Amino acid sequence: MDLQDREAAVLFHTYKRLPLEIERGEGVTLIARDGTRYLDMFSGLAVNALGEGHPRVVAAIAAQAARYTHLSNYFLQEPQVRMAEILVKHSGYSRVFFANTGSEATEGVIKIARKWGATRGKAGIIGFSNSFHGRTMGALSVMDRPRYRDGFGPFLENCRTVPFNELAPLTAAVNDRTAAVLLEFIQGEGGVRPVSEEFVRTLGDLQRKFGFLLVADEVQSGAGRTGKFFGFQHYDVHPDLVTMAKPIGGGLPLAAILASREIASVLEPGMHGTTFGGNPVACAAGIAVLEEIEEKGLIAHAALVGGLLLDGLREIARDFPKVVREVRGFGLMAGMELDRPGEEIVGAMRESGILINCTDTTVLRFLPPLIITDAHVRKTVAALRTIIAGL
Ligand SMILES: Cc1ncc(COP(=O)(O)O)c(C=O)c1O
Repeated sequence: MDLQDREAAVLFHTYKRLPLEIERGEGVTLIARDGTRYLDMFSGLAVNALGEGHPRVVAAIAAQAARYTHLSNYFLQEPQVRMAEILVKHSGYSRVFFANTGSEATEGVIKIARKWGATRGKAGIIGFSNSFHGRTMGALSVMDRPRYRDGFGPFLENCRTVPFNELAPLTAAVNDRTAAVLLEFIQGEGGVRPVSEEFVRTLGDLQRKFGFLLVADEVQSGAGRTGKFFGFQHYDVHPDLVTMAKPIGGGLPLAAILASREIASVLEPGMHGTTFGGNPVACAAGIAVLEEIEEKGLIAHAALVGGLLLDGLREIARDFPKVVREVRGFGLMAGMELDRPGEEIVGAMRESGILINCTDTTVLRFLPPLIITDAHVRKTVAALRTIIAGL
């Protein structure tokens, strides 16, 4: 029995796996069992910011695993404190709560918003169409896509979604009973769709009028991928709460909620917690990732090399307007919307040794490690051009 058959025999059939068996990873390269080498242009869906097997991350994990791998949150843990200090320094927020996954961070911010709103007569939570905040019941309650929600209701009360980037429905939905508005400033799973500046301005006006918490979901766009530490920093806005996950654990499960001291104080000891949140090995890996990003200037690099990628994709769009509808993104979070489902092109790219992803059916998504070079971008753009020309 090969691995695919063994997997199907024992695991829930919840994932559509790639027809690949990876033996190991080296930086931006994934090496299959048959020896084929692939350029990894989606980095485990925005997790592997430094690629695979980065020596600094590997060393940090090994060193911390040798000290202790878990103590429980009854104990002070130096890696957790250090990781939080780094996040505070980079973000301008003053308090961090550690969870394990993006979904769990979403649940955390919903709980914080509810607790904050409880003394103010506010319980409403608003999300947006086409957004993605995770697969838990709280996250699904502020999402609208049937493929994630159908059959799982009823969802949380006082939660709703309104159309992304449309001013009138937002204005009609928000009122003085709104506790929080939850937004991906650049929707990831939803097709790499940035929010419009006008929408952010309206959101700001409504927030000043009604006094709700603005929550930025930076799970996919955070930690430098877009050419700034947070995706929302491409706009003139300061969210009250921020969720992070994916890259901040160096490949291990780690998520964070960032807040001001005042909002963090809503949660008193015992009100919220998790066994594994802020796991010391994950924090040690995350410290290595964030220190490397800072020391090597990888945020500026993401802006630069991401600019090259977006330029290359836009040239393809210009030359093949019938196939390519639009190119969107910031830095190394790029999407190319096609006139057709993208799976065939993803398969053809894989045949030419490059791994990309397709989301929202028709959007090719590029989320490479932040360490990719101009040469990797040129190789990707050239291969994509050849494939699109041959359609
Ligand atoms: C923007 C965003 N929020 C939340 C999540 C959920 O994160 P997780 O899969 O770690 O629960 C994701 C996952 O893709 C995401 O992209």
